[in-house]
Amino acid sequence: MSFTGKQAIVTGAGSGIGAALCRALVAAGADVVCTDIDGEAAQRTASALGDGARSARLDVTDAAAVQATVDDVVARTGRLDLMFNNAGIVWGGDTELLTLDQWNAIIDVNVRGVVHGVAAAYPQMIKQGHGHIVNTASMAGLTAAGQITSYVMTKHAIVGLSLALRSEAAAHGVGVLVVCPSAIETPLLEKGAIGGFDGRNYFLQGHAGKAAYPADRLAQDTLKAIERNKALLVKPRSAHGQWLFARLAPGLMQRASIRFIASQRAHQAQARSDKR
Ligand SMILES: NC(=O)c1ccc[n+]([C@@H]2O[C@H](COP(=O)([O-])OP(=O)(O)OC[C@H]3O[C@@H](n4cnc5c(N)ncnc54)[C@H](O)[C@@H]3O)[C@@H](O)[C@H]2O)c1
Repeated sequence: MSFTGKQAIVTGAGSGIGAALCRALVAAGADVVCTDIDGEAAQRTASALGDGARSARLDVTDAAAVQATVDDVVARTGRLDLMFNNAGIVWGGDTELLTLDQWNAIIDVNVRGVVHGVAAAYPQMIKQGHGHIVNTASMAGLTAAGQITSYVMTKHAIVGLSLALRSEAAAHGVGVLVVCPSAIETPLLEKGAIGGFDGRNYFLQGHAGKAAYPADRLAQDTLKAIERNKALLVKPRSAHGQWLFARLAPGLMQRASIRFIASQRAHQAQARSDKR
């Protein structure tokens, strides 16, 4: 499959993985609409990419706005080849500290936001007889450690949605890929901290040299996975061991997670007392 001339929409394109996907797509010859709730950030991504990119402010929690973005691409170009449902947020910290508003916000962005992208793009792709939907989930959609419990819930939903949809979309010529990265070097690692949670320390535990995987490499991996029509992309490769462990030995994985959360709580308490 060639990306030349393909029409793509990327959500959450103002930063991190979304911006990297836009760079990779334009470099591969696609035309991309870079969208983000932060319209200026989306514009910065697009203006660095020249003719192949345009930008739009888009809040993925607004179903009508997501539909309008898809309709606009179809009206201009006659089709939509690639829909990247990538925008996401995280909350990190003990679950009892989460407000109901925070629960609702993460469900709205991470689950409803992807549903809105699928509901808008998939019928069009069926109509045209081709297309690819790419949903950014996480390793948190394949494993289940605490203190990011609300995030784990939403990402498991996206893995389920994607794999199930893929099995019925194939007959329509539509591909579905779910991307499950471990820690990627983006601003997300520092966001959503509640009650002394240290995202960088949390997400980089177990990563070689405590270094996160570069977003641009993940974007290249994602394009290759689309070309090969893969169902699931787990990156970096070192995360495969953790994934396998969770599937083959869920009891042992739970015990390891309990120890991990205890070590995180100790780290957070130490950081709090160092601050005082
Ligand atoms: N960084 C990681 O380690 C990592 C690992 C696994 C999965 N992910 C997932 O990758 C995706 C991208 O995250 P990132 O790491 O690039 O984070 P990021 O914070 O750098 O980028 C996320 C972007 O989404 C946008 N966004 C937030 N709410 C939105 C909304 N309602 N509508 C539209 N845009 C909205 C933000 O403005 C931001 O530009 C997310 O779904 C995240 O859960 C990230």
